[in-house]
Amino acid sequence: MLFKQKEVIIIVTIEEIDYTNSEVYQKFLIDKKSKIGSKNVFACGARCSNIPCGAILASLVQCSNTKQEVKISSFFVLPFFRKKGVGSLLLNSLIYKINNLGIQKIKVNAITSEKNIYLLEHFLLKRGFSKAKLLSIVYLFEPKLLLRENEFIQRISMSSLKLPEKIKFLQEDDISLDLIKKVKNKDGIDYPDVLSPFVNEFELEREYIEFAVYDDKEIVGWITALKAEVNAILYRTFFIKENFRKQGLGYFLFNACVKKHVEKYIEKRGMFAVDLKNTNARKLFSLYFKGLCIETRYEFEIDMNIEK
Ligand SMILES: CC(C)(COP(=O)(O)OP(=O)(O)OC[C@H]1O[C@@H](n2cnc3c(N)ncnc32)[C@H](O)[C@@H]1OP(=O)(O)O)[C@@H](O)C(=O)NCCC(=O)NCCS
Repeated sequence: MLFKQKEVIIIVTIEEIDYTNSEVYQKFLIDKKSKIGSKNVFACGARCSNIPCGAILASLVQCSNTKQEVKISSFFVLPFFRKKGVGSLLLNSLIYKINNLGIQKIKVNAITSEKNIYLLEHFLLKRGFSKAKLLSIVYLFEPKLLLRENEFIQRISMSSLKLPEKIKFLQEDDISLDLIKKVKNKDGIDYPDVLSPFVNEFELEREYIEFAVYDDKEIVGWITALKAEVNAILYRTFFIKENFRKQGLGYFLFNACVKKHVEKYIEKRGMFAVDLKNTNARKLFSLYFKGLCIETRYEFEIDMNIEK
């Protein structure tokens, strides 16, 4: 397609993203590479005068036997190329592709800055989508900065953590399948689905799950680390069983995770996602990140019901 802007002609080409060109568009996608080429994934990239300048990626989600949704997890146009019609072309290509599938809803669910959410909301509202609903706040930190500026983190990183009695921190491979199964089946432990240690709505590759195990008999808490962006770790679920709360276990688990980040992932940025309604966890995070959080982002949702 041709666009004339201030006497400059811009040629925009939209192409399907597959394994032959995925490398070129990877920087616009938060999704893992292996999704490209899958039959339930729709991905398009845009080139302006042959320069890759944006992309959209969406997946088909079967909600029930009769209900299907399309979830957009990446949609981005480079700032320099915005307001030239690229975003509209990408969105229209997606809508064209899913046109005959009988989809009931298109949803955008992603993590980005407040400014970007505003941009997306403004863009999508005009195209029939809802307003943005903020779901969780995501604190972004640079481990080297935390280590340099926060005495608390310096102390944690130098000390060996003495855990509460009978508590061990273990990873999945070191725990019996029986205990893991009990957590999966919510047997003796209840948690909201979004806080399951195995939940992974962005389908990111898992780095590890740190489980808190009591007396080798039951799993009483966890924190999940996922590989995010090009070089970051997203800590997604953080949960302590009800009757194990108010004993400092959350602090121990969180400290263990910060210590591991500083020791093992010092070159990677960290991101902690917390439900906006969870004031206790937000208090805990502000203790660690106060004034040192390099950015706060939000997980949000914007959707549109499609009439038949
Ligand atoms: C939302 C976003 C995708 C829109 O992309 P875009 O390329 O600017 O989209 P368009 O150019 O098609 O449309 C944007 C506006 O420019 C206008 N426009 C389009 N072509 C134009 C032209 N040639 N001259 C002037 N204006 C133009 C459109 O009418 C539209 O205005 P409106 O929204 O008020 O109707 C882009 O702003 C973006 O990438 N934002 C960040 C998204 C993000 O954070 N993603 C991560 C989480 S998914």
